[in-house]
Amino acid sequence: MKLFLDTANVAHVAEIASWGILDGVTTNPTLVAKEGKDFQKTVLEMCKLVPNVSAQVTATDAAGMRKQADEYAGWHKHVVVKVPMTTEGLKTLTYCKKKGIRTNTTLVFSVNQAILAAKAGASIISPFIGRLDDAGQDGMELIAEIMRAWENYDFETEVLVASTRHPRHIAEAAQLGAHICTIPYDVFVKLPLHPLTESGLDRFMKDWESIKKK
Ligand code: G3P
Repeated sequence: MKLFLDTANVAHVAEIASWGILDGVTTNPTLVAKEGKDFQKTVLEMCKLVPNVSAQVTATDAAGMRKQADEYAGWHKHVVVKVPMTTEGLKTLTYCKKKGIRTNTTLVFSVNQAILAAKAGASIISPFIGRLDDAGQDGMELIAEIMRAWENYDFETEVLVASTRHPRHIAEAAQLGAHICTIPYDVFVKLPLHPLTESGLDRFMKDWESIKKK
C-alpha cells in the first residue's frame, strides 16, 4: 500500500519523507489556504521530495479545468491533477487521460461515482471516509464496496482512502486492499508508535547500561 501525506506543509513532507516510506502528497484548496503560502511554489517544493503530488484545479467548468490541468501538469512530472467528481470533472478526466496527464478524482462518496471516474480514465479516485463517518455513515464500508466492485473488472484506477482520521483507518484500509491511503500529519506521526515498543526499548537500554557498569 502506498502512503501519502495529506498536507500543504512542506516541512511536514520533508520530515515524513526522511523516514523513507512516503510515496506522495495530497493537497486541496483548504490545506493550501491553511498554510497561506504560494500554491505553485509549494507544489514544486513537494515535487522535489516525493514522486506524486496532487494539485487540485479550482475551476468548476470543463474548459477552465482543462486549462488548469495543462498548466499544473507542465510544472513538474510528479504533479497529479486533482479534479472534483462532477460531470465537468468527468469531461476533464477524459481529456487528461488522452493527454497522458495523471489525475486524482476528489470528493468521491459512492460506488457509482467511483465507477464513472474509473471509466473516464482517472489514475486515482479519492473516497472521503472520515466525512462519511461524520455524516453518520460507515466510511470504510464504502472502501469495501469499491474494492469488491474493482475485483470484477480490470480498472487501472487506484483507490486512495482519503479523509482518514486515526491509525485504525490505515490498518483497515490495508486489509481491504486499498491501493493508497492519504494521512494527515497528526495521524502519520502516530503510526510508528506503540507503548510496548517504547517500554521494551527502555528496558533493553537499562539492562545494557547495567552490563557496562559491571
Ligand atoms: O485530501 C482530502 C481529504 O483527505 C480531506 O480530509 O479531514 O478534510 O475530511 P478531511
